[in-house]
Amino acid sequence: MMSIVVPATSGHLGRLIVTDLLDRGVPAGDIVAGARNLDTITDLAEAGVRTTFIDYDDPSTVEAAVSPGDTFVLISGKDLANRRRQHADAIAAATRAGAGHVVYTSGLRAAESPSPIAASHAPTEDDVRESGLPFTILRNGWYTENYAATIPAARETGVLLASVGEGRVASATRHDFAQAVGAVVTSDGHLGKTYELSGDVAWDYSDLAAALSEVLGRDVTYQAVSREDHLQVLKGAGVPEQFAEMGVAVDAGIAAGAFAYQNGDLARLIGRPTTTLVEGLRPLV
Ligand SMILES: NC(=O)c1ccc[n+]([C@@H]2O[C@H](COP(=O)([O-])OP(=O)(O)OC[C@H]3O[C@@H](n4cnc5c(N)ncnc54)[C@H](OP(=O)(O)O)[C@@H]3O)[C@@H](O)[C@H]2O)c1
Repeated sequence: MMSIVVPATSGHLGRLIVTDLLDRGVPAGDIVAGARNLDTITDLAEAGVRTTFIDYDDPSTVEAAVSPGDTFVLISGKDLANRRRQHADAIAAATRAGAGHVVYTSGLRAAESPSPIAASHAPTEDDVRESGLPFTILRNGWYTENYAATIPAARETGVLLASVGEGRVASATRHDFAQAVGAVVTSDGHLGKTYELSGDVAWDYSDLAAALSEVLGRDVTYQAVSREDHLQVLKGAGVPEQFAEMGVAVDAGIAAGAFAYQNGDLARLIGRPTTTLVEGLRPLV
């Protein structure tokens, strides 16, 4: 029996992938959900999903979870300093186990992205392509949910402060991206393909302010600031220096267009329009 192995199901995307597979009618017993803490996925086990310990830092756990012919969904890790090695070890382990298909959740336009985070997926893409395994690469764009942390300040101050300039973002929800995984692992024609996944609309921060106004029921206006001023505002608000610098770096990537790319791949894969900005923000309020 060939299964679909999904690690990182304690996280948002992994869990949504598993629930999407169940929604599509994949038998629970054909799904292997991995986590580093199995207490976080007891409900999946109760639903009949096979649950198992998977830690990218211990490749033997990947090898044990994957059986010959299985699909292995490699959800990118969060440890930016170490994830290239973690991913390489996981790919090698899945290869030893005889996986029939590896699906990697990469970053939008990884090969040429001006965003260091998106670009950091490129070496793993090389490892996937060189593994010899049948593969599909899903280059995920910006999650609308990334604005969850923006909402409290917008609600309180009515200001959306950012250093993205005129940058545009074709965001989509994690649910949209999870459904793309579900589509790719349950239908034919995706082997060897690399998809650029992003939302149907590349909006700018005036649009984001308008969407926030709508979901918060109060006026929110976009205030564009320089990178230097942005850093000072964040530090002045008590954000630790490292996180303040990260926030400004993320905005610099957006300003450079790192998440603006749109080619319709995501809507085509999921067979419907992507979730609009307003509808993606609404559950976060
Ligand atoms: N496109 C975007 O806008 C965007 C934004 C944020 C992140 N991402 C990327 O997309 C991935 C999935 O997003 P998400 O929203 O699901 O993130 P999330 O909710 O933070 O979940 C991250 C998951 O990765 C797991 N993980 C971390 N290190 C691991 C390891 N060494 N071995 C096995 N599992 C490990 C975590 O497990 P624990 O619960 O045990 O820590 C957790 O399940 C992230 O990991 C990140 O690479 C993309």
